[in-house]
Amino acid sequence: MSKFMDWIDARFPATSMWEDHLSKYYAPKNFNFFYFFGSLALLVLVNQIVTGVWLTMSYTPSAEEAFASVEYIMRDVEYGSILRLLHSTGASAFFIVVYLHMFRGLLYGSYQKPRELVWIFGMLIYLALMAEAFMGYLLPWGQMSYWGAQVIISLFGAIPVIGNDLTQWIRGDYLISGITLNRFFALHVVALPIVILGLVVLHVLALHEVGSNNPDGVDIKKHKDENGKPLDGIAFHPYYTVKDIVGVVVFLFIFCSIVFFFPEMGGYFLEKPNFEQANAFKTPEHIAPVWYFTPFYAILRAIPDKLMGVMAMGAAIAVLFVLPWLDRSPVKSMRYKGWLSRIWLLVFCVAFVILGILGVLPPSPGRALLSQVCTFLYFAYFILMPFYTRFEKTKPVPERVTG
Ligand code: HEM
Repeated sequence: MSKFMDWIDARFPATSMWEDHLSKYYAPKNFNFFYFFGSLALLVLVNQIVTGVWLTMSYTPSAEEAFASVEYIMRDVEYGSILRLLHSTGASAFFIVVYLHMFRGLLYGSYQKPRELVWIFGMLIYLALMAEAFMGYLLPWGQMSYWGAQVIISLFGAIPVIGNDLTQWIRGDYLISGITLNRFFALHVVALPIVILGLVVLHVLALHEVGSNNPDGVDIKKHKDENGKPLDGIAFHPYYTVKDIVGVVVFLFIFCSIVFFFPEMGGYFLEKPNFEQANAFKTPEHIAPVWYFTPFYAILRAIPDKLMGVMAMGAAIAVLFVLPWLDRSPVKSMRYKGWLSRIWLLVFCVAFVILGILGVLPPSPGRALLSQVCTFLYFAYFILMPFYTRFEKTKPVPERVTG
């Protein structure tokens, strides 16, 4: 075996890669619950790719046959219904896991120096993931697929001068048609998965270059033993690989319960109108995107002017990219930040959830006002951050992790 490995290592850096990223990658020993979600995001990514490949074997990307081919997968293809529900539930699970993963970043200041690039690559993944989910949603060619895409693509029409040409260019037609379905299929199945996989590699490489942050926000590289191993670090493999398996088992238990017993999740994971085939002559009474887009959809609707709404929605995502430069706090973790940071993070999360709920509900004057207040609070969290993080009183950070 060792001779075989020598032969490989002379030609490919297998052992050094294993050591650099697993057996000799020292991670802080105080990882907690929130540190499960990176590896779970990887697991869901693999699930989406594997089930996606198998679904592609039986799906037909044409306006005439797409809807029926999904029905065929659900009824006639062996294990087809499980494959499809693993994929559709996986999409929602992806966003749940990624939102918790991002929340961890906010909680422990993981985006701060020197992890700015880890955060930026993460945000690019998030953007690509949103595009991937949006395009995937058109493929079953149901009523909500069609009208959801209609609403979102028409938003580009609000852009002055080029708006109309741009929407036509995206659709490839004067209205959403089989041509649009075909290009979304190509992007969903080939182009975006490659982009996402590449970005995930860059994300993890950037993280391993600087090392992981932790719930205390303490730099574990400051205290090393005589062999250069951080005193507060433990080898990722076997310690965290084994720990992550526990997270995987719990996750799979919850995930499979949903897949087998509540795959529609009351219309939130699979929306009711999507059980009806797309019909360009029949607009559903109420069009709402899937739950993971609704906070941004609520921001869009909060502003009466269409162009301003589109810009606010774009800004709500764009502002996350510059987060590492908005936080001026001398400490990373919420454990040692002051009360203002804590209150603002809470306000931000509550506003985000309320926007998410408002985005699924039909509009009313009262809801419009509430969505405007929440939109204001969403942006205030970021805009005021340079001030409250700089001037608030922080607690002293310990030299070593606290366990
Ligand atoms: C497909 C999606 C993603 C995958 C597979 C992924 C994977 C990972 C993995 C394996 C880790 C190391 C383990 C951990 O700290 O949990 C990590 C860390 C991190 N990720 Fe992601 N990630 C994804 C999306 C994102 C997004 C959307 C963001 C934020 C915009 C993000 C920000 C971070 C940060 C800041 C860290 C370092 C955390 C720390 O050291 O405290 N990631 N990611």
